[in-house]
Formats: sequence, C-alpha cells, structure tokens
Amino acid sequence: MSIVQSGEVKKELEQAAEAAKSPEALMSKVVEVLHARMLKYNWVGFYMLEKEAGSPPMLVLGAFEGAMTPHTRIPLHQGICGAAASQGKTVVVDDVSSDPRYLACSLETKSEIVVPIFVRGKVVGELDIDSHFLAAFKHDDRELVEFCAALVGKYLETSQT
Ligand code: SME
Repeated sequence: MSIVQSGEVKKELEQAAEAAKSPEALMSKVVEVLHARMLKYNWVGFYMLEKEAGSPPMLVLGAFEGAMTPHTRIPLHQGICGAAASQGKTVVVDDVSSDPRYLACSLETKSEIVVPIFVRGKVVGELDIDSHFLAAFKHDDRELVEFCAALVGKYLETSQT
C-alpha cells in the first residue's frame, strides 16, 4: 500500500465523519471505502459489543462488505475477534491457518486484522478485516485500520454526549 493511497483514504473518511448523520452511516461508509479502495481487504466489517443484563457480552455483526459470514454473534472468549475485544488490543494474524483462535468465515481468508474501538477508554466494538493474501496487514495497514477505528470511536463519543 502506498502512503499516498492511505493518505487519500484517511482524508476521504475524515470528510465522511464530518458529514455523517449517524454512527451507522459512518460505519457503512468506512466499510464501503476500505473494501473498494484497499484491494487486499476482501472482507471488512464492524462488530459492536452488546451488553445485556443477564447475558454474556456479545460481539454483534454490524455494517460489512464482502461475503456473508456465519459469525454474526461472537462471544468474547471466541475467535480473533473475541481476543481483540477482550484484550483491548489490535490483533494481526499473518496466517490464520496457524492460529487456533481463528473462526473461519471464508475458505479463502489467509490473514486478518482486528482493531478495537474505544469510547471513553472502554471497548465498544471493533473493525475486522480479512484478506485472501498471507500477511496482508503491514505497518501502514495497521495504522490505517487503527485510524478508522479511532474515527468511529471519536464519532460515537461525541454523538453520545
Ligand atoms: N475470523 C473471525 C471471525 C469473523 S469473520 O472473519 C468475518 C475470528 O476469528 O474471530
């Protein structure tokens, strides 16, 4: 990925955040732009944390681009998604076939990145991206995906006050 490309995508999404009428609209735009512009990002989606009294917290599929996944609800102790949300840390997996935590979404997926979204220091969801290429998520990709997750976190923070 070139720095120019990543810079353009960031600028486009910053403008989208200013124009978005709701967090859902912003998240739809983020998945649309990342999926369309970043050619190795073959599945792009948000999972948002659902906390309901009496039930264990759950990651629930939100806006996404790519093939439908069987994993629409993921508990925090499962998958790479569960690991990123429960640790509050970005997880990058260069080869999903060698990670026992991996929950298969598509047979074509080779690598994955999951970045948590924070609102006032607490995890509220995450941005998950799968690639059909091994080790697709390099330093610049991680920076871009973390930028997108932070953009949504900031939007949620201001829209909830
Ligand atoms: N691979 C994820 C599950 C979600 S799908 O990739 C869309 C995981 O291991 O948590």
